[in-house]
Amino acid sequence: MASEARVHVIHENPEWIPPLAQALIAEGVPFDEILLTEENGYSGLDLDADPAPGVYWSRMSASAHTRGNPHAKDYTRALLSRLEASGARVVNGRPVIEIEVSKVQQHALLSRAGFDVPRTVAVFGRERLVEAAHDFAPPFISKHNQGGKGLGVRKFDSLEEFEAYVASPDFEEPIDGITLLQEFLVAAEPFVTRAEFVGGRFVYAVRVDTSAGSFELCPADACAVPGADGAEPAPLFALREGLDDDPLIARYEEFLAAQGIEIAGIEFIETADGRRVTYDINTNTNYNPDVEAASAVSAPREIARFLGRLLEETR
Ligand SMILES: Nc1ncnc2c1ncn2[C@@H]1O[C@H](COP(=O)(O)OP(=O)(O)OP(=O)(O)O)[C@@H](O)[C@H]1O
Ligand SMILES: [Mg+2]
Repeated sequence: MASEARVHVIHENPEWIPPLAQALIAEGVPFDEILLTEENGYSGLDLDADPAPGVYWSRMSASAHTRGNPHAKDYTRALLSRLEASGARVVNGRPVIEIEVSKVQQHALLSRAGFDVPRTVAVFGRERLVEAAHDFAPPFISKHNQGGKGLGVRKFDSLEEFEAYVASPDFEEPIDGITLLQEFLVAAEPFVTRAEFVGGRFVYAVRVDTSAGSFELCPADACAVPGADGAEPAPLFALREGLDDDPLIARYEEFLAAQGIEIAGIEFIETADGRRVTYDINTNTNYNPDVEAASAVSAPREIARFLGRLLEETR
């Protein structure tokens, strides 16, 4: 029996799926999930058979290893290589997983495309971290090359503070051994902006409040931190309007097209000295419910429509 063409969502975190599943159902787009967790396993990669018909969408996350799925990214590489060799239509395909898992690569691509990026040094291993930090005027930031959800992102106000951290049991080993040292960008106002794109087109921008000083910016509901005395959390995420005709957004669209990235959230900071610095590309993006409620367009619905159109084209 030939299976019906559908959208195949490749991922490793079921918690992030419900809003997307709802949107796909609402748009009448048939889909299934390829769940690449250790617990679930996967036996569907028959190298002699044609892949199931339809459109494949990878939303593999750079932080998969933090959820007990250390091999999920390699499973994704294998699967996407095979799918693309068979000519399957893949959204955020094989080259994109490498961008997702490497802030070094993000920085290099952005810089080559002419975007203002933070001055950054990548250090391989723990041994030379302190030596490398001597070149940075404090304050500076450390972060993991293979990050997501603010992994290992810390601010240091002095070299001594950093030295003590590196020598301490608090030091967080990056999964690929690569730690970035990065200039600390002083924001003109305490927020960063995350611009969301679907099908390579701008959907909306999110203003993320950073006044509390936290670097963990997972926008999903699951990550909301309760306020003092269990009070409702302060709204950290808000719709940022007025960017539709901003040249930076048009340049991001051009960049995404050149890199073959079809769904992404790109983050930038507007600094006190008037720079607009791009520092993060998320090809696995989660949408904040408050922002969704405030926006005239819904990003998951845009994704469902986009994938639905691609599915029609494959039929
Ligand atoms: N160079 C910097 N200067 C100032 N603040 C920074 C800098 N880099 C990162 N931050 C802050 O830390 C947050 C997390 O950094 P970054 O986005 O690079 O990490 P991430 O692991 O990809 O996080 P996420 O998955 O939440 O996007 C940023 O959103 C920003 O608020
Ligand atoms: Mg980020």
